[in-house]
Amino acid sequence: MWSSKLAFILAVSGSAVGLGNVWKFPYITGENGGGAFVIVYLICVFAIGLPIMMSEVLIGRRGRRNPIATMRLVGEEESGSSKWQLVGGMGVIGGFMILSFYSVVAGWALAYIFKSATGAFTGTNAAEVGAIFDGLTANWPVLLAWHTLFMAMTVFIVARGVQRGLEQAVQILMPALGVLLVILLFYSISEGNFAEGVNYLFRADFSKLTWDSVLVALGHAFFTLSVGMGAVMAYGAYLPASASIPGTSVAVVFADTGIALLAGLVIFPIVFANGLAPGEGPGLIFQALPLAFGQMPGGVIFATLFFLLLSFAAWTSSIGLIEPAVAWLVERYEQSRVQAASMVGATVWVLGVGSVLSFNLLADFKFWRGTIFDNLDHLASNIMLPLGGLLISVFAGWVMCRNSTSEELDMGTGVAYSTWRFLARFVAPIIVLVIFLNSSGFIGWVQGLSNGG
Ligand code: TRP
Repeated sequence: MWSSKLAFILAVSGSAVGLGNVWKFPYITGENGGGAFVIVYLICVFAIGLPIMMSEVLIGRRGRRNPIATMRLVGEEESGSSKWQLVGGMGVIGGFMILSFYSVVAGWALAYIFKSATGAFTGTNAAEVGAIFDGLTANWPVLLAWHTLFMAMTVFIVARGVQRGLEQAVQILMPALGVLLVILLFYSISEGNFAEGVNYLFRADFSKLTWDSVLVALGHAFFTLSVGMGAVMAYGAYLPASASIPGTSVAVVFADTGIALLAGLVIFPIVFANGLAPGEGPGLIFQALPLAFGQMPGGVIFATLFFLLLSFAAWTSSIGLIEPAVAWLVERYEQSRVQAASMVGATVWVLGVGSVLSFNLLADFKFWRGTIFDNLDHLASNIMLPLGGLLISVFAGWVMCRNSTSEELDMGTGVAYSTWRFLARFVAPIIVLVIFLNSSGFIGWVQGLSNGG
């Protein structure tokens, strides 16, 4: 059991706040045109992500096992069917896929700790930071080494089962990351093009928004909150019966959204002041932030600290990605934690090699959404997470009976509970479905048929 409500909030925030907030949110916002994308993302976070997070916690606390066993158990209890365990299974596979490319990017953050500490960014211009980033990603043996180190760090913690030991560290280091972002915000306000950055982030022009961007925003709402794959369910399994699920979920969602918006407010003013392209891609923050660090007083220290804290945030997230699979192997096949963690870690590592090579040897090997890295990200984040979330909300809203959910949520039967149930039953599943149908071109295809006929 978690020792307290705060311990649970810290653990789930540790999994939620990570590369998704600081690295992915700014770069996909830049790729998808800013304002309108951000609004859709925020709507998805609050109208879909939050009720699904509450659903995951309540299912997890009822099942009190790993996500696969929990979905089987609670599914059998509520509907007599064991098929719901497939949702847990899909989550485990999704976690594998996400961790495989997540670890590669976390490797960049690790590499940047050392570049920062040795003053590589001092006095650099946009072309130079670009060359540093390209130099790193072009060098596949070095990337592979960082990816290996990060996976080893993750396996190490999970194998020893001492994740809880990180709780205390999260308590200090996550606020520290927030404080550092606020310091950077002052830099962006005074030295960056702050007005243009804010404008880009919040002025919405929906006429330019495509259904594909809407799908990316939806996927990111799941990704950044760590929901849709049973990770939060795994944490919920250890939540004491007395802790409030709505309260803890709201706290996590606000912390996560706050950090993402802060990162956006820091990065875009720097991007515009230095003539970088917002749609630069996955390297965006690895170019914009070093530029700022290179110009500010004390930049070497701030930069080193920043990439250290970012790596730590990535580390606590990677634990959440791997834990469902490890818990399942331990409970189902009675493996030791060391065995289970090593096996899962090795599998993820192999998959990650595809992402390592996506930035160099296989950079031109493109299909569907782009490189291997792009495809893993799209399939796991934008398709599997929303699909998992849809099934979880249908399960909590339709399959579980009213008594079970109201008992777990402990919100009474008033407006708050009804709102949750309405969001879980109707809003979340329907919005996900509508976005899937439109972005896949299905709706357009049907309209084409009816126009033609
Ligand atoms: N939320 C994490 C981030 O923003 C990444 C993530 C996605 C995750 N799914 C997860 C973490 C599941 C833990 C568990 O960086």
